[in-house]
Amino acid sequence: MVNQFSLLQVNKVDFGVGSFKKLASYIDSYKSRGDLLFLMSTKIANHPEVLSLIASLKEEDVQVHSALVSGEPTVASIDTITKTYYETRVSLVVGIGGGSVLDSAKAVSVMLFHQHKWKDQDLSIKTYLEGVGTKEAPSYRLPLILIPTTSGTGSEATKNGVVAQIGEGGFKKSFRHDSYVPDVAIIDPSFTLTLPLEVTASSGLDALTQLMEGYVSTTENFFIDSLALPAIHKGGLALTHLLDGHLDDISSRSDISYASYISGVTLAHKGLTYVHGLSGPMGAVHSIPHGIACAKLMGPINRAMVENELKEENIDSPYLVKMDAIAKGWGKKNALEAVEFIEQMVEKADFKPLREYGFTKEDLKKLSKMNSKRNSPVTLSETTIYDILISLL
Ligand SMILES: [Fe+2]
Repeated sequence: MVNQFSLLQVNKVDFGVGSFKKLASYIDSYKSRGDLLFLMSTKIANHPEVLSLIASLKEEDVQVHSALVSGEPTVASIDTITKTYYETRVSLVVGIGGGSVLDSAKAVSVMLFHQHKWKDQDLSIKTYLEGVGTKEAPSYRLPLILIPTTSGTGSEATKNGVVAQIGEGGFKKSFRHDSYVPDVAIIDPSFTLTLPLEVTASSGLDALTQLMEGYVSTTENFFIDSLALPAIHKGGLALTHLLDGHLDDISSRSDISYASYISGVTLAHKGLTYVHGLSGPMGAVHSIPHGIACAKLMGPINRAMVENELKEENIDSPYLVKMDAIAKGWGKKNALEAVEFIEQMVEKADFKPLREYGFTKEDLKKLSKMNSKRNSPVTLSETTIYDILISLL
């Protein structure tokens, strides 16, 4: 029986090598209405295709502003950008970059709209963050186009963005509303061709984690599961090939770009489990990139979950059945072999231990006491989680 489900999708998606060229036609309908605001990393701001597009817009006397984004979005970084462009009549926000840039662009499109609505240039993104804000996230934002240039967060498919405040009393929280799904997502895998191994691994493993956590989660959604499973298969095989020294293989880049987009669709509809339940709070304690935190946790968390179910002789558990299905697409026999496949991928990336990001035993003790289960089909004890975190120190 197919149970009830809901769908919330990006209005228009352009996927494939060369699809970046379509951005010019989308911009056409906005350039007479006001200025264009591009959010980008420095590297993307110097990409030949981006430089060429902006130059041709300027030749037409279109007002184009570029806000450079570095690092994951924080309350301070978002508030600084919106204050800078408060006096500018922005008709369209375009985010081109990794997950941090896309989340920043999403936040700026929301905040510029509402700062003008309330005539308050000091209105902070913190106001609308879940758990720490004082108001519900409002509907409406400025028109928004998102273009990922890594294969990681899938932010181009989701209705939320994550904003942090790092350090004592820090947090990492979402602003979220159905209307924050972008108007257009353009996914051009050729933009990912020059990503170094560490970024390829951390972003790809974030995407794979989001897919797997969503797929095995307790939330039912047959439609999304039928998208997620083939994306897990394609994404896992592609990422392994890339990390085996074929970083410029466009076919694998396309497959992991697709997997990343579907990972956003999956997490938005099915939620996540322990890996994201822990990696979010970890990012609020110390500046560890989100993808690296996920990548490091993915193997041991899944191993603990599989071993837990096998120990309980819970052979027909929905989690094991789904992990077996994942294993088959990777040419593996069972859930344990699927875990080994993940562990081997993570090993290729050779990430630094947690202590090198500033984590201490006390930090990990506190993290293990948090409720990080989210929509996990298997429950792990506090001791198991602590042991996993310590093994990564
Ligand atoms: Fe993630």
